[in-house]
Amino acid sequence: MPSNDSLARASGNVKWWKNANIFQIWPASYKDSNGDGIGDIQGIISTLDYIKALGVNTIWISPMYDSPQIDMGYDISDYESVYPPYGTLDDMDQLIKGCHDRGMKLLLDLVINHTSDQHKWFQESRSSKTNPKRDWYIWRPAKYDADGNRQPPNNWMSCFSECAWTWDEHTQEYYLHLFCVEQPDLNWTNEECRREIYRSAMEFWLEKGVDGFRVDTVNMYSKPMDFPDAPIVDPLSKYQPAGTLYCNGPEMHKYLREMAAILARYDAMTVGELPLTPNTKDVLDYVSLKDPQLSMVFQFDLVDIGRGPVDMMKLTGYKLSALKAIINKWQTFIEGNDGWTTVFSENHDQGRSVSRFASDAPEHATNSAKLLAMLNTTLTGTMFIYQGQEIGMTNVPKDWPIEEYLDVGSINYMKLIKEKLEATGASEEEKAKAVHEALLNINAVGRDNARTPVQWDSSPHAGFTTGKPWMRVNDNYKKINAAAQINDPDSVLSFWKRMIGLRTKHSSLFTFGSFHLLEPENEQTFSYVKKSAEGDEKALVVLNFTDQAQEFKLPTEDGANWSLLQGTQPVEDPTSAPLKAYEGRVFVNFGARD
Ligand code: GLC
Ligand code: CA
Repeated sequence: MPSNDSLARASGNVKWWKNANIFQIWPASYKDSNGDGIGDIQGIISTLDYIKALGVNTIWISPMYDSPQIDMGYDISDYESVYPPYGTLDDMDQLIKGCHDRGMKLLLDLVINHTSDQHKWFQESRSSKTNPKRDWYIWRPAKYDADGNRQPPNNWMSCFSECAWTWDEHTQEYYLHLFCVEQPDLNWTNEECRREIYRSAMEFWLEKGVDGFRVDTVNMYSKPMDFPDAPIVDPLSKYQPAGTLYCNGPEMHKYLREMAAILARYDAMTVGELPLTPNTKDVLDYVSLKDPQLSMVFQFDLVDIGRGPVDMMKLTGYKLSALKAIINKWQTFIEGNDGWTTVFSENHDQGRSVSRFASDAPEHATNSAKLLAMLNTTLTGTMFIYQGQEIGMTNVPKDWPIEEYLDVGSINYMKLIKEKLEATGASEEEKAKAVHEALLNINAVGRDNARTPVQWDSSPHAGFTTGKPWMRVNDNYKKINAAAQINDPDSVLSFWKRMIGLRTKHSSLFTFGSFHLLEPENEQTFSYVKKSAEGDEKALVVLNFTDQAQEFKLPTEDGANWSLLQGTQPVEDPTSAPLKAYEGRVFVNFGARD
């Protein structure tokens, strides 16, 4: 049966953002234009042709607003100005125009669960209990324990491993911050506050011509305002993870409908960051076109695979069958309804996908990057690619000392591990072992991995800056860099270009097709069939996720006449040769009928 999308496409009426392939830029580490060691907007502008040549049609930039940079710009002190080291409002106008002139769209990051504590709204709010903006943030009186000691209003732990409440001496109350102490949460129940958020953070930029937003922590605006304690899952910690209490709260849909009404006036898209939402029905409630709220979301099951349920930095391992089940779930949840999905395996909060999901060993890194490129470009939904992913950048080396890690998430995590060790009276030997293990976890999934400077060429500091980079460059930049790949037809970069080109050309199959998982229990090879809505085009994708050769036979049962569209490695007879380590192939059958 033709899906809504195929019918919409036939009438030329498909939403533009379904066809978007989106390149994410993290400004601090992207490209420095003036030698101060920090990436900037002119640096981005200087590479727009490079991005365009990749074949993507949309760019998302992580926060470039004015900010004290406690959480790398996710702590915004003024939505209507630019962080001076990144540039000016004029630079942003140039960037918007530079994208539009090339037929590309531009998305900004919309961070409105919280502001910086340096935002003038919070400065006013904290100035007195009677200030008109007092209620724009979440203030609560202290509790006192049996011994009369002051305690926070509840036991919630912030997303950065600390108490989620901070005591304010001046007005003698606590304020809530689900992230850093310096990131106070806005009070969305206050209507005047919401209106000002929409005006300052959204309309200001929509009027300038931006085409939409990636929406930060989109399901946390509505909290249970009685602030119940979270269940104790980590008895060694004073504070407990409370995400299931503060995510997807009672008024979420109401707030998002208000936002959607504004966005609709500009035909702007949103992609919401949606942690801790495992049920397809709940996700559909956010993205169904019938009740417009978000265009699409980032669902986190894939990037959370193999991480501990309580300690998310702890690696528990996973099987390929589990990874397939997750992809199958989020590929097929839009079948038979009007929702939409996304494809992503990296962003600024994750380890590098080559290291996470395949192999960054020197002999496998290139093939692994191509294998994952093939996976990403053949899946259904709006596809996202993160800076450096297009050249196969990897995690930082395991021997980097903790001092090289600059992310507040990594630093606080190490602090918490040490505090817990103190509390349990561990021996020196036990402590050293636990600290070493924590460092390995930070190395595997820590956010710093994605935040090292982009490797442009083999000159000092990887051509990212002529000055001293604000963060250490990954040691492998002489081997992995854009300049070395750009004219090499066998490079990871050339492969991404080819695959994005094929995805765009055959969008009915790759972007819009239906997904059918084959051999769900196979722990070595990931295979699936994609079908166009009309049923006349099919693709078969086979991906060897191991470092060993795997037997391969083309399925013939359904009589399909497969021919190779693209492989990741040269093979003589792709229809029967075993798959080499980390090899992938896409076959197509055009003009098929079933
Ligand atoms: C999101 C961002 C992350 C940031 C946090 C707080 O998860 O992706 O980088 O630290 O929100 O704004
Ligand atoms: Ca700079």
